[in-house]
Amino acid sequence: MKRRNSGVRSQESEVRRQNKKQDRVSKVRLVQSNLVMGLHTDPRAQVVSFWLLLFMLFEELRIRDVMIRPAHILAPMAGVTDTVFRRFIKRLGGCGLIMTEFVSSEGMLRQNLRSKRYLYYKPEERPISAQLFGADPDRLAEAARMIEDLGFDVVDLNLGCPAKKVVKCGGSGLLRDLPLLERILRTIRAAVRIPFTIKLRSGWSDTEIVAQEVARVAEECGVEALAVHPRTRQQGFSGRARWEIIQEVKSQVRIPVIGNGDVVTPQDALALHQQTGCDAVMVGRAASINPWIFRQLSDYFRTGTFTEPSDADRYQLIRSYYQMLVGEETPGAIGKMKQFASWFTHGIRGGAELCRSIQGSASTQEVLDRVDKFFSAPGVYSLSH
Ligand SMILES: Cc1cc2nc3c(=O)[nH]c(=O)nc-3n(C[C@H](O)[C@H](O)[C@H](O)COP(=O)(O)O)c2cc1C
Repeated sequence: MKRRNSGVRSQESEVRRQNKKQDRVSKVRLVQSNLVMGLHTDPRAQVVSFWLLLFMLFEELRIRDVMIRPAHILAPMAGVTDTVFRRFIKRLGGCGLIMTEFVSSEGMLRQNLRSKRYLYYKPEERPISAQLFGADPDRLAEAARMIEDLGFDVVDLNLGCPAKKVVKCGGSGLLRDLPLLERILRTIRAAVRIPFTIKLRSGWSDTEIVAQEVARVAEECGVEALAVHPRTRQQGFSGRARWEIIQEVKSQVRIPVIGNGDVVTPQDALALHQQTGCDAVMVGRAASINPWIFRQLSDYFRTGTFTEPSDADRYQLIRSYYQMLVGEETPGAIGKMKQFASWFTHGIRGGAELCRSIQGSASTQEVLDRVDKFFSAPGVYSLSH
């Protein structure tokens, strides 16, 4: 017992040390940012400061012993971020942490087949975080222990899902019951040794914004980082993400704060950092249209520029993702191919026609053939460069 207590104490002091370090880095970054934004009138000084600000931004984030390098995170997206998509993103480069789609604690405890599938991952995906949802403290804690036993690097709790059937038993519904939420956080924290994080919306509605309070409670309970998607449950995905809420959360806690919401380009990520001082950036929907976004972020923060993919790159992208789906005998592969067709064909000349052609295919082989045919049309999509 004594040994366990001293283990917990040394773990806590390591977390405190990491958080202080992260806090110092964030403060220096913010000072730089202010210099760029306001103090310089000399254009040359502004250019130098801009480079200083960009250089190595989001280079890394440590959540205790988990190194996230670079600090660019693929947001969990149900129906999208399965093991194939996660590996696909990881291989394109620039993504430091990936997360599973959310998994029901109840489904896990019932050994539900779908939950097992959601939790399947390959070593190349690491570091990887598994996201749970539920509302019963003990059952969530048991599910978190299972996640630890499965070898995940981080366990995350979903406090954001707006779906009707989820809010009755977790997700953003917990933002309306902070005493229950606190019990859940303490119970999960006590159950696992791996880092524990949360991902939250700003609140239930505009009159019930609770992100700051939740962040403070979470830090007190031993949560080690939190991701904020600053929309309310009532907003769904409409309107804009209110980044100022991320900044308010950041001002309340010492644990790392991950900024999320409406980041589509590297310039958006820079603006997000300037407005919030967040420690890492999380990208969701943009990654399904532009899976190169993470590599673009890395290039931008290293060199100040990034490239847009060519048609040949897009062809390779569609081909390799589809081949992964087929090669791994993914259940419902044809449905996934059709789902991704509308995203992946964005930005391709004649993309709408390709999308329609994929949607009309009857088999996975037919999809692959139609993609090949489209991109090999003479004179239009030269794949030789
Ligand atoms: C199709 C879809 C599924 C999502 N599933 C989850 C989920 O399982 N867990 C979660 O915390 N957030 C989920 N989200 C929210 C995203 O993780 C993210 O917070 C949101 O899309 C805002 O970020 P973005 O503007 O970069 O997309 C989902 C979003 C979408 C569009």
